[in-house]
Amino acid sequence: MSMEYKNLLKDSKAYYEDNDYYELFSIAEDGENKVADYLKELSIDKVVLDAGCGTGKFLPIIENVASKYIGIDLSNEQLKRAKDKSSGNSLFINSSLEKIELDNNSVDLIISTWVLGTITDIEERNRCLDELKRILKPNGKIILVENDENSEFEEIRNRTSDSRTRDYNNWILSNGFIVDKRLETYFSFKSIDEAKKCFEVIYGKTISDKINNKKIEHKIIIFRYKKNDYNE
Ligand SMILES: C[S@@+](CC[C@H](N)C(=O)[O-])C[C@H]1O[C@@H](n2cnc3c(N)ncnc32)[C@H](O)[C@@H]1O
Repeated sequence: MSMEYKNLLKDSKAYYEDNDYYELFSIAEDGENKVADYLKELSIDKVVLDAGCGTGKFLPIIENVASKYIGIDLSNEQLKRAKDKSSGNSLFINSSLEKIELDNNSVDLIISTWVLGTITDIEERNRCLDELKRILKPNGKIILVENDENSEFEEIRNRTSDSRTRDYNNWILSNGFIVDKRLETYFSFKSIDEAKKCFEVIYGKTISDKINNKKIEHKIIIFRYKKNDYNE
């Protein structure tokens, strides 16, 4: 094995180790599966687009009940992990939500869980949302699953001392969404060490140092948009 190959292997191992922590974080999220149960119910017999599907946290439950699951993500590495979870004829698209290669009015239900808030450029975020509305069928729904204010999860990430979560959630409301549901749930990590490592990889050491429990309280807010709602 050449030195160069050895280094590549080492680097990619480090990458996958970090990627593993993103997956562990995603698995720990919503320990009681309240979001999964909610999304499953909505997905029955629908063409469902999981916009920013990541590693496919919700893929297995949706693929089982939907008429078609479509996962889109900007990250090919995340998407590969989602594909590995698929056992059906699902479609995977590696692209930005800004330009989605799907026809106008072609999707019954779009779910997007903790995605648009990660897009800090407001123009880019607006373009993504416009694109989601374009591909949605009349009477179709967009469901955004997001963080609610004032939870332990917000406190750990220093979000209670600024208005970022509120500003983002207000941006959603200003775009034709209503609050559908509020859920109180928690992250359920296997150990404090796992919780700390996940938070360190994603948010940095100062934040992970605040963790002293493997269970972290998390408040979730679910927004709903219905296309052509005004016709009814
Ligand atoms: C916080 S993760 C959430 C992943 C997944 N929805 C979940 O709940 O586990 C955000 C995901 O959005 C994806 N993402 C961010 N911006 C995107 C964009 N403009 N287009 C497509 N995917 C995007 C990221 O690659 C990442 O996988």
